Amino acid sequence: MQPNECLSPTNWKSEFTKLFSAIKTEKTIIDSITMMIGAGRLTTLIITAFALALTPALTAQAAPIVIKFSHVVAQNTPKGKASDYFKKLVEKRTGGRIKVEVYPNSRLYNDKDEMEALQLGAVQMLAPSLAKFAQLGVKEFEVFDLPFIFDNYQELHKVTQGPIGAKLMARLEPKGIHGLAYWDNGFKVMSANKPLKAPEDFKGQKMRIQPSMVLDSQMRAMGASPQALPFSEAYKALQTGDVDGTENPPSNLYTQKMHEVQKYVTLSDHGYLGYAVIVNKKFWNGLPSDIRSILEGAIKDATKYANNIAKKDNDESLAAVKKSGKSRIITLTAQERAQWKKTMDKAHKDNMRRIGAGLIMEVYKETGYPSY
Ligand code: SIN
Repeated sequence: MQPNECLSPTNWKSEFTKLFSAIKTEKTIIDSITMMIGAGRLTTLIITAFALALTPALTAQAAPIVIKFSHVVAQNTPKGKASDYFKKLVEKRTGGRIKVEVYPNSRLYNDKDEMEALQLGAVQMLAPSLAKFAQLGVKEFEVFDLPFIFDNYQELHKVTQGPIGAKLMARLEPKGIHGLAYWDNGFKVMSANKPLKAPEDFKGQKMRIQPSMVLDSQMRAMGASPQALPFSEAYKALQTGDVDGTENPPSNLYTQKMHEVQKYVTLSDHGYLGYAVIVNKKFWNGLPSDIRSILEGAIKDATKYANNIAKKDNDESLAAVKKSGKSRIITLTAQERAQWKKTMDKAHKDNMRRIGAGLIMEVYKETGYPSY
């Protein structure tokens, strides 16, 4: 269209189409307005105003909101699969308005740094193990590390899916973090290069643990020497002999190939390892409310998915460890297991003040601990 040229009914439609296809950059929009003001045509200005009103939607299409979701485990673990599933749901349900970038295997941050990265907004979502929240100053999450406190997933879910779980999540808010859900992994096995059957077998063993004072107490109660190391460093430390043994659910043991550098794996189920899915609070509150609702729905579905696959995934990993023939599997007798439980009970006593006796009692009420 030339300056001073009139919009006739016949060229109206084609000018409208041209204008829409031309509006790709702000510069083009401004050029279009200038041109039309020059033409002095009211109709054309109305069309431009209409097109400008649509521009935010066009821009949102072009530049989706990115959620960086960092985690430290392999993709083929319960957490790895659940975060990929969450990505799939969110991208589909928002029609591409949200892009979820999942970074597994400590590719972006290891577990020492990821909490800080979340608080600073360098990543938007994480699902750290519950044993790592004391690093944020929320020691109460270590209640989940207390040995033998949960006998099974049902007992655990009474806590994670009930008022205690919600109360714990609320404690993250002052830290600039919003808690979304609890995702299961599973019950831990103990591994080393010597058979661990009785508490005496732990004497002098350097055991890699997550950074939790409860796990520290648990290992000391057994006579071992605990060493807190990031997950990303665990395999190497076992391989080089910097540490002698460790604990983890079979899914983590197998996918990190720890069983290849550990001669013995004891099926103790002595403690639970699971996750809190968390998001940077400022980011979360700044999202359009329709997007937030979609994300909440996707988290709900991804949580169901995670908690449905966790046990099966751990059973399959354990079967794969057995099949590999790299580690010998040790099964404890009921009596041996009771001995572990009795010895590790010291970790409960030692951490009453740290975690809060009230909270521990509330959890005992749900789970029936102690029952030996
Ligand atoms: C994880 O499952 O996220 C890591 C657990 C660990 O550090 O042992």
